[in-house]
Amino acid sequence: MHSFSKLFTLCILLSLSCYLFLLGFFAPSSPRPQPATPAPPPPKPLNLSILLWHWPFGASYSLAGDPCREMYNITGCFLSDNRSTFSTSDVVVFHHHELRWARPPSSSALPLHLPRPPSQRWAWMSLEPPAVNGDLSPFNGLFNWTVSYRRDADVPIPYGRTVRRGVEEEEGDDDDDEDAPSARNRSCLASWVVSRYKPTQARAAVYGRLSRRIPVEVYGLWARRPLADPQLLPTIGRCYFYLALENSESRDYISEKLWRNGFGAGAVPVVLGPSRATYEALAPPGSFIHVDDFGSVEALADHLRRVAADGAAYLEYFRWRRTHAVRRLEDWRERLCQICARYPQLPAHKVYRDLDTWANG
Ligand SMILES: *[C@@H]1O[C@H](CO)[C@@H](O)[C@H](O)[C@H]1NC(C)=O
Ligand SMILES: *[C@@H]1O[C@H](CO)[C@@H](O)[C@H](O)[C@H]1NC(C)=O
Repeated sequence: MHSFSKLFTLCILLSLSCYLFLLGFFAPSSPRPQPATPAPPPPKPLNLSILLWHWPFGASYSLAGDPCREMYNITGCFLSDNRSTFSTSDVVVFHHHELRWARPPSSSALPLHLPRPPSQRWAWMSLEPPAVNGDLSPFNGLFNWTVSYRRDADVPIPYGRTVRRGVEEEEGDDDDDEDAPSARNRSCLASWVVSRYKPTQARAAVYGRLSRRIPVEVYGLWARRPLADPQLLPTIGRCYFYLALENSESRDYISEKLWRNGFGAGAVPVVLGPSRATYEALAPPGSFIHVDDFGSVEALADHLRRVAADGAAYLEYFRWRRTHAVRRLEDWRERLCQICARYPQLPAHKVYRDLDTWANG
């Protein structure tokens, strides 16, 4: 009996250890210890209050709710146009046009009489080219940041930008559609919309020589053919080409004439403004014809006529729409929210001691 009980105990022990072994094998594995590299601290959530001192050109937008989050998915970015929040605002934004045309003129439109909190930044905002800035020296040494279409501004707010389809998850008009611009029948070769015509501007000379060689339909105040906003893009879109000629040739200055009138209407833009290299850096590839590409305006005119007559050559200017899309920045609220989007890269300490040279130099 003794040896039997020994054997029995052995059996129990064996099966128990076997059971425990199997349990250990099949039991859900416990979480492995993490490797010893410490996780980076989560970025501090943004909490920035931005006061807009004047609404640009006197046209206000609603700031109710949280427009940066609701419209542009930018969190912790609080916009106000209520001047009583001055002393608690992190950033105060001044739009140039209202500073310039204030009565009495110059820096008197700034709240220089109020104590300025030491950590508060003042931002100078303008979408206008140097030709309309006027003298900015009264504003030297007052601003910490610039908000402008220029790529080297602290907060760049271009009129539009190019995005890659898929990569930057842009929805876009598909050019296989029947009403895609490339499939449209055109009844006009080229159009131009101009309100403030000045014979001394380079664009006036280009238009003059072009219109002697090819028909150009002209709209706008100067031609006494103003277009109401709903008519603008459909009218331009009837033509093969749109003369997206800037009123001045300034660094990075590419206005809504390209982004909205040209690309938005689906006419191939003929551009005059900054260099071809700048357009290549900012506009979709192969999307435009630059006046500088030709030895003369007459050669440009002949090119336009030839391309309009050659379906395949014309379609080449729409190829980019398969891989790229354009995104316009048109709402002042979005432009203000860009200050927050850009905030992590903004210089902590900066003063524009010579704003005049920066903007006009
Ligand atoms: C363009 O014109 C052709 C020939 O007149 C016609 O068959 C076609 O449907 C038109 N396309 C559009 C988009 O209007
Ligand atoms: C912002 O500019 C003002 C005025 O020039 C200056 O006194 C202040 O130190 C600047 N602030 C920062 C944070 O750079």
